This record gives sequence, structure tokens and C-alpha cells, in this order.
Amino acid sequence: MTTTDTTPAPRPTAVRQGSRISWAVVVLTSVAIATYAVSPYLVRSLEALASDDVGLAPGYAGRGAAILAAFYLHVVAGGTALLVGPFQFWAGLRRRRPAVHRALGRTYLGAVGVAGLAALVLAPVNTAGLVGFLGFGTLAVLWLLTAWRGYRSVRSGDVRAHQAWMIRSFALTYAAVTLRAWTGVLIAAQVPFVSGTFDPEAAFANAYAAVPFLCWLPNLVVAEWLVRRRGLPTVRIVELRD
Ligand code: HEM
Repeated sequence: MTTTDTTPAPRPTAVRQGSRISWAVVVLTSVAIATYAVSPYLVRSLEALASDDVGLAPGYAGRGAAILAAFYLHVVAGGTALLVGPFQFWAGLRRRRPAVHRALGRTYLGAVGVAGLAALVLAPVNTAGLVGFLGFGTLAVLWLLTAWRGYRSVRSGDVRAHQAWMIRSFALTYAAVTLRAWTGVLIAAQVPFVSGTFDPEAAFANAYAAVPFLCWLPNLVVAEWLVRRRGLPTVRIVELRD
């Protein structure tokens, strides 16, 4: 795999304005999901949550110590990556407080490392079965890989490659938000097709069969589009020769 440089195009004011609004949406949705999805697991036991059928607690209550450790490490470190990640794209902070950017960057990369390794433990036992194993498992591998490439490129002084890899990395972190959005959309989309009583559990199971891939594949396409639009180095699987 090699990287190819392209010349950065000047960005008109309307594009910059649009980027700021999109960034604000990403910050708000990331903070909302990091708080809403993680906090129940910090304040109540899995057994108590399972009795109310909250989130995925019923699938994890009573599991062995290794799975439980991976689950809690994943939830806390994943929440940390999602909270910290968006602020790394704030150009003003990078310019004025580079030490803060570096400290938050180390926190983000450490959190992705822990949450990604824990996700590799959870993928084989996830509640979506084989599709979850393949979808979440691939996501975990790519999450670790993109964070590693982001770290290696900045250590070697290649700031533009670092920016490109961190856009890809955060697009994958943001799967935590898009997963929940897609689940809601896919559950709602089934309502018009139900004859008789709506079964929320069946609707959730149907939606959850698609989200292990849907939560991250489109994000990666958007990330690649952003990388190209900013004139950052793109990834070529095969190098073309003259
Ligand atoms: C991007 C890479 C990620 C991967 C590969 C991944 C993978 C997984 C897997 C396999 C599970 C168990 C799912 C199941 O049993 O069906 C899970 C659950 C969970 N993950 Fe992640 N995850 C990722 C990112 C994140 C992030 C950034 C957060 C931050 C909020 C997060 C928070 C959670 C929570 C709270 C649960 C428990 C499920 C719930 O109640 O919603 N994950 N994750």
C-alpha cells in the first residue's frame, strides 16, 4: 500500500462555513452518544440493566470475567475516544495550544488501542452473530490500523499523511454514533410494513443484522471524500506504472 500526494485546492468561504456546521454536528452527536450510550453501564450493574432490557446488557449479564473485563474496557475507552476525537480537528486549538492537541491525541490513540483490542474480544460473542463477527471484527481491525498509521505518520514528521489517517480513524470511531442512528432508522422503516402488532424485539433484531457493516462502510467513503477534498495523501492499493 502506498500514499500519493495531490495539491491542496483553495477552500471557498461557503465550503469553510459548511465544514464548521458539519463539525459542530459531529461534536454534538459524539458527546451525546458518548454520554447516553456509556453512562448506563457506569451507574448500574449489567443484571439491573438486563431486567429493564437496556441496550445490550441482557447479552452480557452473567458472562465470564474475561468477556466482562473486555466489555467494560471497551465501553469506557470507546466513550473516551468518541469524546476526545472531534476536538482534534479544531484547527484553532492545534495552532494555539499544540501541547493540548498532543495530550488529547495520546489519550485518543490510547483509548482506541484499548477499545479496539477489547472489541476484538467482543466480536466473536456479539449479539448479532456471524454478520456481527465479520462487521464488528473488520471494523475493530481497521480502527486499530488507521490509528496506528496516524501515529506512525506524525512520528515520522509526515503531518499531511497524519491528518488523512486521523480523518479515517475518527470516521470509524464515529461508527458508535451512526450505528445507533441506523438502528433507529431501520426500526422505524419497518413500521409501515407490519400487519398486526408491531414487535419491537423482532424489529431490533432485523435492524441489528444490517448495522455491523452499515455503521462504518459509508463513514469510510465520506472520510476518503474529505481526504481528497482537502488534497491530503490518498491510499493506493496498487501503484500504477507508466
Ligand atoms: C469503532 C470501533 C468499534 C467496534 C469494532 C466496536 C465493537 C463493539 C462490539 C462488538 C460490541 C458488542 C456488540 C454486541 O454484542 O452486539 C460493542 C458494544 C458497545 N460499544 Fe462498541 N465498538 C466500537 C466503537 C465504540 C465507541 C467509539 C463507543 C463509544 C460510545 C462504543 C461503545 C459501545 C457500547 C456502549 C457498547 C454496549 C452496547 C450498547 O448498549 O449500546 N463502541 N462494541
